[in-house]
Amino acid sequence: MTMDSPQGIDGSYTPAYHDKVAAYVLPNDAPEHVRLEYQCRLLRDVYASHGQQSEFHAPLPASVNNLLDVGCGTGVCSDAAAARFPQAHVYGVDLSPVPGGIREKRPNIQYLVADILKGPDALNAGGAPGIGEYDFVFSRLLALGMSDWRSYLKIGHDLLRTGGWMEVHDFNFIVLDASGKVISDESSAPGEEFEWLRLLRIEASKTGLDFESGFNAQSLMRNAGFVAIQTWRYDWWFGPKHASNPAEEKLGQYVLTWMLPFFHHVINRVMTGKMSEGEISEVQRKCKESLRQREARFVYAVSVGRKA
Ligand SMILES: C[S@@+](CC[C@H](N)C(=O)[O-])C[C@H]1O[C@@H](n2cnc3c(N)ncnc32)[C@H](O)[C@@H]1O
Repeated sequence: MTMDSPQGIDGSYTPAYHDKVAAYVLPNDAPEHVRLEYQCRLLRDVYASHGQQSEFHAPLPASVNNLLDVGCGTGVCSDAAAARFPQAHVYGVDLSPVPGGIREKRPNIQYLVADILKGPDALNAGGAPGIGEYDFVFSRLLALGMSDWRSYLKIGHDLLRTGGWMEVHDFNFIVLDASGKVISDESSAPGEEFEWLRLLRIEASKTGLDFESGFNAQSLMRNAGFVAIQTWRYDWWFGPKHASNPAEEKLGQYVLTWMLPFFHHVINRVMTGKMSEGEISEVQRKCKESLRQREARFVYAVSVGRKA
């Protein structure tokens, strides 16, 4: 498997999952780990192309002590936090264990296997700090796993000490054209171009997933009591042609090469048992067609807020 061509995650491969009933609908196997690591490198370049020197957008002081990376995946952001704050303790929590062999674990990182929605007790049980003890709670790309955003923001708020920061990076699975107009809603009727996205969204929302969690994070933070909320937006173009800089071009290329198979498997996972195999294949075909042909983009949003 190379980064430019994700052979092995096409339709012929059978992904492995955390479990078949969890709200989380992405795999937790080696090809997925390769994808997450590559995606992280692309995102770092995109942040940098907009003047952000790392994934962490919150104005963190050098004196931070406890940091939590929720849904840490391969541990790539935990590692970045531990490198930037060598005096701090970084806790990475995930439903699945962090895979070994990708990078050496820094001595100031502890990984825990837990569901963040079980709250601070689940962190305590794994030996991590609890309520009011963190300076930073971070998560990236939980959109396809977080089944209760309101509770998650409340838990994040509870875990922080006064003055601590929460930062949420997430995706909006709605499609915008170059002018910023939402085009997935208007063409989501039966037989229309983005019907596949509407069908996916309806099924996913039954388990609590929010396909606009990136945009909604800001208001959820406000409701949870955060202040000094700020949001950054980044485009994920369908292909490199419309991107505004070389980093976005590479991300656009990634959408075509890696996110086509990604959606293929998400559709299969979400729709199995709800539709016939033939109907699922048709939804997958429509998805590929629209991602390949449209001058359009998804938007990924980063929101930060401080606990007052
Ligand atoms: C798309 S991956 C992103 C990983 C990493 N944050 C990154 O940016 O590369 C989402 C991760 O969140 C984890 N996850 C989803 N729901 C979770 C929950 N309720 N509690 C803890 N981890 C969760 C998944 O197991 C998965 O590893």
